[in-house]
Amino acid sequence: MVEKNIILSGLSGSGKTTVGKIIAKKLKRPFLDLDILIEETERMTIPEIFQKFGEEKFREIESKLTIKVAELRNSVIALGGGTLMRPQNRESLKKNGNVVFLNPPLDTLLKRLQGDDTRPLLKADDIKEKKEKLKKLYEERINTYLESADLVVEGDENPERTANKILEQLFLQAKEEHDFSIIDKIIVKTESKNYEVVVGYIILHEVLTDYIKRNNFSSIVIVTSPVINQLFGVPLKEVFIEKGIDIKTVFIEDVEEKKDISTLSKIYDEFIKLGVDRKSLIIALGGGITGDVAGFAAATYMRGIKWVYVPTTLLAQVDASVGGKVAVNYRGGKNLIGAFYQPDLVVTDISHIFTLPDKIFSDGMAEVIKTAILQGGLFKNIEENAIKIKERDSETLFNIVYECIKFKKEIVEKDERDEDKRMVLNLGHTFGHALEAASGYKISHGQAVSIGTVMAFKLSLLLGNNLQKELESVKKLLSFFDLPVSVKELPYKIEEEEISNFLLKDKKAVAGRPRFIVPYDIGDVRVVEKLPGDLKILLKNAMDEKGGKN
Ligand SMILES: NC(=O)c1ccc[n+]([C@@H]2O[C@H](COP(=O)([O-])OP(=O)(O)OC[C@H]3O[C@@H](n4cnc5c(N)ncnc54)[C@H](O)[C@@H]3O)[C@@H](O)[C@H]2O)c1
Repeated sequence: MVEKNIILSGLSGSGKTTVGKIIAKKLKRPFLDLDILIEETERMTIPEIFQKFGEEKFREIESKLTIKVAELRNSVIALGGGTLMRPQNRESLKKNGNVVFLNPPLDTLLKRLQGDDTRPLLKADDIKEKKEKLKKLYEERINTYLESADLVVEGDENPERTANKILEQLFLQAKEEHDFSIIDKIIVKTESKNYEVVVGYIILHEVLTDYIKRNNFSSIVIVTSPVINQLFGVPLKEVFIEKGIDIKTVFIEDVEEKKDISTLSKIYDEFIKLGVDRKSLIIALGGGITGDVAGFAAATYMRGIKWVYVPTTLLAQVDASVGGKVAVNYRGGKNLIGAFYQPDLVVTDISHIFTLPDKIFSDGMAEVIKTAILQGGLFKNIEENAIKIKERDSETLFNIVYECIKFKKEIVEKDERDEDKRMVLNLGHTFGHALEAASGYKISHGQAVSIGTVMAFKLSLLLGNNLQKELESVKKLLSFFDLPVSVKELPYKIEEEEISNFLLKDKKAVAGRPRFIVPYDIGDVRVVEKLPGDLKILLKNAMDEKGGKN
């Protein structure tokens, strides 16, 4: 079940990080420190950012990242001392979280900060000056701290007691055990490679440690983004250190605009710097973007090295993680440069879905619903369990993710290189990819697939299939998961002409005519190579609101 974030605020030295880590451990939730996130994103320390760009620029960077982490669910987040001073930061953080203000007396803060020169706003020649600066900051900020807080805690005692007090006052209980435990395996057999997809709940550390111990890698490198590193990379690294496993991290920006050759080139540079060789292991830790880029880097660096994929979004777990499609975008062409390069292992940990922002969870549901339409029986299962899925009930999610992986495995095994049978997996994607490109990648992949799936049904109606009832059920389910079912629902305009142009450029087009994946029923989806009549008019009608009726 997803829960609100716990957000720790207060002046430097108030114990946000220490108390936050204790709370996260007690609740068995991920922990994120905003200051570390800023440093890892900018690849500079905070004093360096202040010195190089000044406070205003630092606040801009902080704000951008605050708004991003505010969308997380189920996390414990320690803020910087000044984060709450910007109204947009306060607003976004309070949407999904309970803000706790840690307010120990100034003398306690001073004692904790003695000898600490890493806080630019408290830089002082002696203790007296530091005390004055601290007092001034306190006076400037106290009202905002108090107004923003859902809970104020003195935090003067030891951090363990402060953490307990916070849990008690937020009516939360420490967890002795995880609420659910399961692990299962699906073996994917392809011509190029056989590999396991291990699916379970809280399994990452154990499965990866075991895999690494069984192999003799010359080095191990995680490719991930700074946010995912904090949520899942840091705890993984801690376990590896305990077990004597050395591991390095390469950071990427996991945004669609950066799923390109420039990011790939940076990864190669880092690999060279870290001495990655043919016996190294790459771990792609993140969503579909990370898997696609890191997987393509693994496929091409030194003609291919081993890689493990740890998909952390619902979309990546049910779709991107199986099948070995790895790619980057190129000159507006989605996934235009890529390869088929199967991973050596996939570790799908359902617990990772719990921190997903609601919108990204919904994006994943677009692929889940697409899979369900292809598979048939799963569609009913999702309709019946829609509420539990939306609440992110762990057991329900495990079953859904497992079924999707099993279905994808069967298709990939029959057609690894997407030459015939696998093409049905592109239901909603021909339109979807064109929408993504025509929107300049403003629309997310999941939203695009959602609208694209509806368009595919409308196309089917235009071809004379009687699927109005099924179309309504599909639209109802997509809407239930907050997905758009028409371009008109988007907050920006995408020109039909643009969509058509991109459709005709689709890389799966044969002689300029894209192939369409057309549903004939729930559980019966076919590849149609030649659509009758004028393609542009047909597409225009499929994009039309009334699609299929006129
Ligand atoms: N290779 C394939 O077969 C395949 C299949 C489908 C999609 N894709 C590709 O996948 C990409 C979309 O991937 P996506 O939807 O997984 O998202 P993503 O990789 O774009 O990530 C979206 C956001 O979610 C964040 N995130 C990831 N995991 C998180 C977690 N557990 N908690 C909180 N935040 C988390 C990321 O930091 C990022 O900000 C597209 O580029 C698409 O082309 C590839």
